[in-house]
Amino acid sequence: MHHADSCYITTPIYYVNDRPHIGHCYTTLLADALARFERLRRGSGPISGPGAPQVPAVFLLTGTDEHAEKVVTSAAAHGLSPKEWADRNAAQFRLAFEKIGIAFDDFMRTSQARHTSKVLEYIRELQRRGHIYLGDYSGWFDPSQEEYVTESAAKESPKGPYTSPVTGVPLVKRTEKNYFFRLSAFAEKLRAHIDANPAFILPEARRNEVLGRLRDGLGDIPVSRPIAAGDADWGVRMPDDPNHRVYVWIDALFNYLSAVDTPERRHLWPPRAHLLGKDILWFHAVIWPSLLMALDRPLPGAIVAHSFWVREGVKMSKSLGNFVTLELLLAYAQRYSLDAVRWYLLTQGPQGNTDADFSHAKFVEVYNADLANGIGNCASRVANMIDKYFAGRVPEHHGVWAQPSGVDWREATRGLIHNDGVLEAFEDFEIERGLKQGVRLVAMIDNYISETRPFSIAKEMGGPGDAKRKQLETILYHCAEGVRLAALLLSPAMPSKMSELLSRWGSVPEPGVPLEELAAFGGPHAVKPGATIAKGEALFMRADPAEAAPTA
Ligand code: MSP
Repeated sequence: MHHADSCYITTPIYYVNDRPHIGHCYTTLLADALARFERLRRGSGPISGPGAPQVPAVFLLTGTDEHAEKVVTSAAAHGLSPKEWADRNAAQFRLAFEKIGIAFDDFMRTSQARHTSKVLEYIRELQRRGHIYLGDYSGWFDPSQEEYVTESAAKESPKGPYTSPVTGVPLVKRTEKNYFFRLSAFAEKLRAHIDANPAFILPEARRNEVLGRLRDGLGDIPVSRPIAAGDADWGVRMPDDPNHRVYVWIDALFNYLSAVDTPERRHLWPPRAHLLGKDILWFHAVIWPSLLMALDRPLPGAIVAHSFWVREGVKMSKSLGNFVTLELLLAYAQRYSLDAVRWYLLTQGPQGNTDADFSHAKFVEVYNADLANGIGNCASRVANMIDKYFAGRVPEHHGVWAQPSGVDWREATRGLIHNDGVLEAFEDFEIERGLKQGVRLVAMIDNYISETRPFSIAKEMGGPGDAKRKQLETILYHCAEGVRLAALLLSPAMPSKMSELLSRWGSVPEPGVPLEELAAFGGPHAVKPGATIAKGEALFMRADPAEAAPTA
């Protein structure tokens, strides 16, 4: 049974032949921020109760897609077996994700036996249910690349109609035996599901795109590729037929299920969300749900597709060699901090339906506005005033919530959580909108300081019990409590800087306390009057826009 409180989130599994770059990092970061928010929301405790003693309630899966043809050729070019080559590169992806602070719960590799054995089971089950048949596949074959090209790609080849889009050699019409999945049988059911669940494919533009293509109907699709004599033993063989292997995309999609198809993890199914880029939407929004319907498994809650990063206005490509590589991101992290890189990608990235530009000038602008002059400056102002006026101890709030300015802090901060606040934004998978609530809160604190002028009041206040002193105490209590809350709300994007800030504030959340309780302004988990606030060093040093961009 699906556990109501579990939350299973996935990223695509990445082609093991690639070097990690901003695209891979971005999708994985989105999933990580979402998972971190979900853990924060529920106090991060594991699911209690029978069936799931060790498995965390929020479960983030990522991994590598290893059975592509190219792995075999690249491995050979490096004098390695496919397995050795895949081991080496999968380790690079794993390390990349560790370096950018991804808290994944599992890393799936499609070459692992725990996956391949499940793929065989699923294919057998599809066969048993009559959803797979042996048929003829006929299409345009590119002899120079040893792969089929779709009709439209063949017609629109940049090297001339019906030539290889890569090398320009003439394509040949070729027919071969393949196993087919009866995708056509699921078109109606799938369309009904998409109609009934407006949030199944997000954002809306992507949903409309899929619905538009579905109007043309669905053909059956090959789920296998023939094995030629002399081919390396790589991939999953079709059951009871040594001449075919499972098509790499089908093999790959099954990873989402195989990873949790064990007695300890079964309750995690179905996933809350699959995160991915728009380039692979069709596989996830049409083929994958159809396979699941054929297997009689519940469908994922949402397919969330983002757009693409370009670099300084130019599309990134192998031929231009202009990828924002992992190494470049780490060079930015070295200078501005990892959390700053995460913040930039998460808040300026292409989560909607338009592409986003990775631009150095923009990076510096956002870094200074949101971080150095934003939360960083706000926290240090508040810590400095508390240090100066109250010897570094949190003052009393005197039970006054809306004085001396018009802001009712309890009301206002409740609004950042509820009514259109973080809960709803993350529920809708709108990560940037969720994170921006923390930025709004920082701006509220800054405005409050400008309006109430605590530094002026400090000049006029008298000893204990003096009215001005009480006023200043209330103001700085509100500021300190506001910063605590802002740190919580920003923590899914910036886990290390915000836990540093929370620990300076003496407010590291106890495990097991859900966000709604933690975030109650002045509630049981608020900053404690009398507790010490440590000033510490600047969380984010101001960046000089004139300084040259980091290089990898
Ligand atoms: N192996 C398949 C996915 C199988 S999932 C069952 C694959 N792998 S990939 O290595 O090419 O990674 C694709 C994903 O990387 C995209 O869906 C997208 O998430 C991300 N990106 C790759 N380039 C990108 C950009 N330039 N910008 C943003 N993300 C992009 O496809």
